[in-house]
Amino acid sequence: MAAEKIFLIGMMGSGKSYWAKKIAKWNKCVGYDLDELIEMNEEKSIPEIFSEDGEDTFRKTEAKILRWFKEKKKFVIATGGGTPCFHDNMHWMKKEGVVIWLDESIEVLVSRLTAEKAQRPLIANLDENEIAKFVQEKLIERNPFYQQANYRITSDDIKEANLKKIILKHVS
Ligand code: S3P
Repeated sequence: MAAEKIFLIGMMGSGKSYWAKKIAKWNKCVGYDLDELIEMNEEKSIPEIFSEDGEDTFRKTEAKILRWFKEKKKFVIATGGGTPCFHDNMHWMKKEGVVIWLDESIEVLVSRLTAEKAQRPLIANLDENEIAKFVQEKLIERNPFYQQANYRITSDDIKEANLKKIILKHVS
């Protein structure tokens, strides 16, 4: 028994990849990371794709690889921070399965992202203050998409028990 298709969304640094691995274990399903699949398919790192091909190409590839999941059953996938905001991806994910928004606080996002910015082309060259500004601006831009999620879990509530509660509702 496992829940069907689970899509984790949220800003960079919200813990999507970490939680996808955990959920895969206890939901006994396969866990995926959309960024990793893009890198494997393109045989390039995300920063290389951004610098060599540009963001538009990245977004097209992201949307294409996301749609591979039409054929798959029982999985959890950590999407990229921008995934819900391009190519009708949010609508598509909701049609396919359950979308959970990990709505981490700005303070936590900024401290995590400042420590791990190298692999993230959108912020790699920014200092902490610029990252804070970037996060605030992106949230304003992205919240209308994120808010369409089936479930939203905010900062202190991003915990195993709460995720389990949501996922149990979708077990078949
Ligand atoms: C992006 C987030 C990244 C990755 C790319 C763009 C974004 O994924 O897809 O660097 O637009 O927020 P993570 O959220 O897994 O870091």
